[in-house]
Amino acid sequence: RISCALIEADGGGLVELLVKGEDLRDLKRREALEIPRIKLSRIDVEWVHVLSEGWASPLRGFMRESEFLQTLHFNSLRLDDGSVVNMSVPIVLAIDDKQKQLIGDSDRVALVDSTNNTVAILSKIEIYKHNKEERIARTWGTTAPGLPYADEAITNAGNWLIGGDLEVIAPIRYGDGLDRFRLSPAELREEFIRRGADAVFAFQLRNPVHNGHALLMTDTRKRLLEMGYKNPVLLLHPLGGYTKADDVPLSWRMKQHEKVLEDGVLDPETTVVAIFPSPMHYAGPTEVQWHAKARINAGANFYIVGRDPAGMSHPVEKRDLYDADHGKKVLSMAPGLQRLNILPFKVAAYDKTQGKMAFFDPSRPQDFLFISGTKMRTLAKNKESPPDGFMCPGGWKVLVDYYDSLAVP
Ligand code: ADX
Repeated sequence: RISCALIEADGGGLVELLVKGEDLRDLKRREALEIPRIKLSRIDVEWVHVLSEGWASPLRGFMRESEFLQTLHFNSLRLDDGSVVNMSVPIVLAIDDKQKQLIGDSDRVALVDSTNNTVAILSKIEIYKHNKEERIARTWGTTAPGLPYADEAITNAGNWLIGGDLEVIAPIRYGDGLDRFRLSPAELREEFIRRGADAVFAFQLRNPVHNGHALLMTDTRKRLLEMGYKNPVLLLHPLGGYTKADDVPLSWRMKQHEKVLEDGVLDPETTVVAIFPSPMHYAGPTEVQWHAKARINAGANFYIVGRDPAGMSHPVEKRDLYDADHGKKVLSMAPGLQRLNILPFKVAAYDKTQGKMAFFDPSRPQDFLFISGTKMRTLAKNKESPPDGFMCPGGWKVLVDYYDSLAVP
């Protein structure tokens, strides 16, 4: 078996914020009854999940102001030893005036879910202004109305942010039948070691897998073998937190991914399928840094990036919000990501002369068909078939079934 040392987590060790042992958990639950309580939204809980397992290592809780400002202005955090880790999206918790008043001069708060269950305790808290306009402008590069995450979680959120050290009482579970796919960075590292991986390449996605995506992944494996790696393992890592309303929901995407493995588009022997618990910002070049950084913490030392990662259409104008090449350019230069091997890819499109997905050849543009996520969803919705070779039939059927399930009888 090949000896393998996985890439180290950011900051030198994986941060885990889960309280261990039932006795200690009970104690924390009782302590929580004595301190002010803050109710978490679904997205807040997703961030607690992200923090609890160390995806954002070395961050130990919701950001205090210094972390928030470094994230917004430098896309990175400076550690005590002077080293720099990447951190491009704010992981913050908003509270309103009333909650701030309720907290008073307590230095700890309990975080509870919608059913009033204690989820976590936040200590050594710091409360500071939630400058929403500046946060949105710096994260997205625009304050145009209609940014999904801003509408959902920022614009109507409280005027204050509360940061501190997080202790999470019990693992976050969703009870949707998919929890077994929600492997923590520590569990993923164990799995890669168990498989004897000598390279781990991560693929972030929020869309169904089409053969263009598959081309990026199989081509990466080929490249890594050519580089001399003997057992490169793919982390197929769909995002599982908040996504915008017209994206395909996680449960359907997971069914689709299963078909892609069943139909042999990807090889189950060398692929680990797991869910990345983060919510989606759709912040393009800013967010792709977060997507990559989090995968270092899960043990990935190679990261695939293609066209317009974490992008979407402009919310009011008829164009993409971001330049389709900026994501990969920014990622290759991003502060704190030097240890990660970025594998940038050209756009894949349907080559009519070959009847399959291939890398776009600019010398013969007339031969290619671009099928965007929006176009793909529209085809499936209207029960039209994509050209043969765009997606495996089993995978396509899942999409058609999903849109069928939405149709009003
Ligand atoms: S994302 O929001 O997770 O980035 P998506 O699931 O569409 O969206 O994409 C996953 C990855 O595949 C990203 O790295 C993206 O750049 C890449 N990608 C998507 N479509 C294409 C394409 N046609 N050609 C090349 N890369 C692509």
